[in-house]
Parts: sequence; structure tokens; C-alpha cells
Amino acid sequence: MASCPLICDTESWKNLKTHVEDIKKNHLRDLLKDEERCKSMIRTRWIVLDYSRQQVQKETMEQLFKLAEVAQLKEKINKMYSGEKINSTENRSVLHVALRAPRDAVIYSNGNNVVPDVWNVLDKIKSFTESVRNGSWVGATGKALQDVVSVGIGGSFLGPLFVHTALQTDGEASESAKGRQLRFLANVDPIDVARSTAGLNPETTLVVVVSKTFTTAETMLNARTLREWISSALGPQSVAKHMVAVSTNIELVEKFGIDPNNAFAFWDWVGGRYSVCSAVGVLPLSLQYGFSVVEKFLNGASTIDDHFYSTPFEKNIPVLLGLLSLWNVSFLGYPARAILPYCQALEKFAPHIQQVLWVSIDGIPLPYETGEIDFGEPGTNGQHSFYQLIHQGRIIPCDFIGIMKSQQPVYLKGELVNNHDELMSNFFAQPDALAFGKTPEQLTNEKVPHHLVSHKTFSGNRPSLSILLPTLTAYNIGQVSEGLGIFILGTTYFLFIWGINSFDQWGVELGKSLASQVRKQLHSSRTAGEPIKGFNYSTSTLLQRYLEAESG
Ligand code: F6P
Repeated sequence: MASCPLICDTESWKNLKTHVEDIKKNHLRDLLKDEERCKSMIRTRWIVLDYSRQQVQKETMEQLFKLAEVAQLKEKINKMYSGEKINSTENRSVLHVALRAPRDAVIYSNGNNVVPDVWNVLDKIKSFTESVRNGSWVGATGKALQDVVSVGIGGSFLGPLFVHTALQTDGEASESAKGRQLRFLANVDPIDVARSTAGLNPETTLVVVVSKTFTTAETMLNARTLREWISSALGPQSVAKHMVAVSTNIELVEKFGIDPNNAFAFWDWVGGRYSVCSAVGVLPLSLQYGFSVVEKFLNGASTIDDHFYSTPFEKNIPVLLGLLSLWNVSFLGYPARAILPYCQALEKFAPHIQQVLWVSIDGIPLPYETGEIDFGEPGTNGQHSFYQLIHQGRIIPCDFIGIMKSQQPVYLKGELVNNHDELMSNFFAQPDALAFGKTPEQLTNEKVPHHLVSHKTFSGNRPSLSILLPTLTAYNIGQVSEGLGIFILGTTYFLFIWGINSFDQWGVELGKSLASQVRKQLHSSRTAGEPIKGFNYSTSTLLQRYLEAESG
């Protein structure tokens, strides 16, 4: 297959490479003195984005926008929105944006407007979840179903878990979830099975099996285990009332024993990792919070789709985030990014964002660094764990996310500041500590004993950006973080520039097929005493020990 010209061979890329040397001459503490520069790097449209603490100058940004042009970013975005099959290895459109499009929007895949299909499923979810929530859909023994276990893994788990965790702190959402529980079962570890059903009564529990393919080994095993949990307590007929499914593979759903009428479809143009706005997230979240809350989340995500599609690059928040990541990884050589929400409700944000994995679009190794290692923890917890590393060890660009108005403020009389102010004091302080650092001269002036000066010296010049959200409602959660929120869109952008297909995931497949070989070996050794064969010495030894321990 002919490969596309590489972006690193363009003048724009080479200019940016040369520009790195200029940038390295500046310390952030000096760049931050330039108020005009800072002003040009603060965006205040529905959220505040401040990237003045990135190691960039006006010229850097201009060159990055130029690179985006050369990489035909706008054209690629247009192709995505118009349903072209940009997931080339799987020959699929990439249309997660259609999942939150308004009812009257028109978005084509394979010549069909997909928006009516999306809304058919949303309408079905609305009516089903209302009937479960108002008690007109009851379990096999006539009891209302108050608890839900959502069984799924990867994209069929992390997005919904993230949104669920965030919504729990929203007043309206938590009010409408009163008396209900939503749990997730992802890991095939028997401990996760036990944890997810502990204290639940099968009579009042609905199980939602979420799997795009309906073949994922972990999910199918967990689904069979929960089917057994229900049918052994209530009889096999009870499955019809206690199990529903979300999948693109309705045939396999039926084979499993779930009535296709109780299946909620989605489509191959929704990548697993981008699927939270499909029935994957909308069904379990609507069961817990009601459809109207989840609709707000979808509306929030939809506003970002419009912003991302129509806003010029200089003001386009996902584009800015994407370009800055590209700059940090491919030009400054920082391979990791810390995602640091100063908001406990966003604690599952980093794992959700980490799902983005990729290879080159043409399957050839690229001669430049791509990909980004994303990790994170909510502040201030993270400050007591890995922040020492980011202050005095490796340079890791940080994305700080703060909330202006807490969803649950706490005021203690006589305290200097309330809890939220305390949290936010840290949010505002950390980026400056990273950028400015502390010099030996400052320490000497502060009369720090000589032998401690080198230990207390901070080089500074460590890049970060800060994002302030007004508050954390269902709508904002959709805007900022969701499948198409600014982070994932930002990622999409820089992957487009790198020439990466972020929509397939062949890397994950190798591990899956090796696990299948091990599974067969374990089965044949256990049931027929077959010797271990076909593995290397190390794996054979480990397997041998494992089998011995089990039988011992
Ligand atoms: O292994 C990765 C992955 O394929 C994800 O993309 C997907 O979200 C997850 O596994 C689960 O797959 P499925 O929804 O088909 O069960």
C-alpha cells in the first residue's frame, strides 16, 4: 500500500524542530512576565483555558497552526464529520459525534442518515428506563428493580464509570438516583464478581451486558456468571426480566438468551473507546439518574462538537490542547502528561482518557515520537504521591482542572477558608511552583541553611496548563471530558497530525489471542491431564506452578 507523505518531512515540521532551540533559551518565569503574551494565551469561552505556562511563544503557536494546515487537519475533521471511512484498517466511518447530534441533524454513513437510528435507540432507552424507574417493569417476582449491574470492559466500562462517578455529586442527578444503585463489573477476577453483587438481591437487580462485539472473553464469562446468579435464585425464565444488553451484535445477544427486544443497539461506526454517548453509557446512566439528566450530558457534548467543527484553530479549545500535546511530545520530547483534576468527582477521568491507543495509519513505524502516556490523580491527593517527581524529577507537562463553584461546598465557622477554597488554593499554587521553581539565591535570602540549599532548589520551567470549569453539572461533564469532550477531541486532532489511526486497536488483539492459547492449555491440563506444550520455558514454568498450586 502506498504510504502518505510523512508530516516530519514538511517544512513546517522542520521549522518547529529548529524553533525548539529558541524556546529552550527562555525560562517560564521570564515568559510569564510578559502580560501581552499571557493575555493571548487565555481563552474564556464557557470554560477558562490558560496555556501561558506552556513552553510556547506566539511564534510557536503560529507555527503549530501552520503545521495543522499542512497536515490538512480541517479537511480530516470534515471527512470525519461527513462519514468518510477514516478508520482505514477497519474500513469504517468514525461518527461518535452523531451520538449526541440533535434530532434534526443530518449525518451520513454509507449514504444513510444515521441520526434517526440514533434517536430511535435513545427513545427506546427513555421509555425502557422510565418503566424500570417508575416500577411498571418489574422483576420475575413482581418487585421493582432498583439496582443495576453493568457488565462490560474497556470502552464499555471506563466512560460510563467516569460519568457515573462525576454525576454522583450533581444535586439534580443525585436526587433522581435516590434509592437506586449502579455498579460495574469489568474485571474477570472472581473478586470483582463478588464485589459487584455483594449485598444485592437478584429479585431487585437488573443486569445490563454491554459489549460492542458480544464476544469479549471477560465480559461474556462475567455475563454467564451473573445469568447463573439470577437463574439459580429465580429460575431460568427470570433472565427475560432481569437481563438486557447493549451491543452491535444482536444475533449473539439472542443466542446468549436475551430477548432482542431488550437489546439496545449501536453501530460499527462507534469505536469502543468513544462509545459512552451511545447506549453503552446512556442506558446504565439513565437507569440510575433518569434519561433527562443523561440528555443534558449529551447536549453538553454536542456543544463541543459544534465548537470543534466551526471554531477557528486559534480559539478552538480541543485544537489548542491537541497542538500543545503534539508540541510537548514530538518537539520538546516529554513523553508523559499528568491529568490533575482538583475535583474528586473527576477521579475516573485519567483512566477514561488513557484508553486512547494507536498505531500508524499505514502500519509503518514513524520516525518521530508519537503517543502520550497519560496518568493522573485528583489533587490534592496526587500532591502527596507523585508530585515530588514532577517538581524535581522528570519533566511531565501537567493539565490542571479546577471547578469554580463546588457542587457541595462545606463551610466551617472560624476556618480561614472553606474546603473548596483550600482545594483551589492548591490548584492555583501548583502551576506556579512548577513554572517558577526556586533558585539557590532565593533560598539563601530566606536563610535556608547552606547544606539544604541544593535539596530545596527547584529548577522550575515545568510546563502546565490550567482549565477552570464553572461547575460540574451533567452538561459540563459532557462538555469537558466526555467521549468527545475537549480532551478526546484534542487527542483526535494531534493523532490526525501525526498520521495515526486512533480508531483501531490491533495492539490489544495480540494479548487477547495469546490468552486464548493459555486458556485452552489450562482447560486441557485440568480436564485431560495434558502436558504443557507450545510455550517458552518461562511461561511453561509459571503455568506449571500455577496448575500445581490449584491442584495442591
Ligand atoms: O480491547 C479493547 C476493546 O476492544 C475496546 O475497544 C472495547 O471497548 C473493549 O475492548 C470491549 O469490547 P466489547 O465492547 O466488544 O466487549
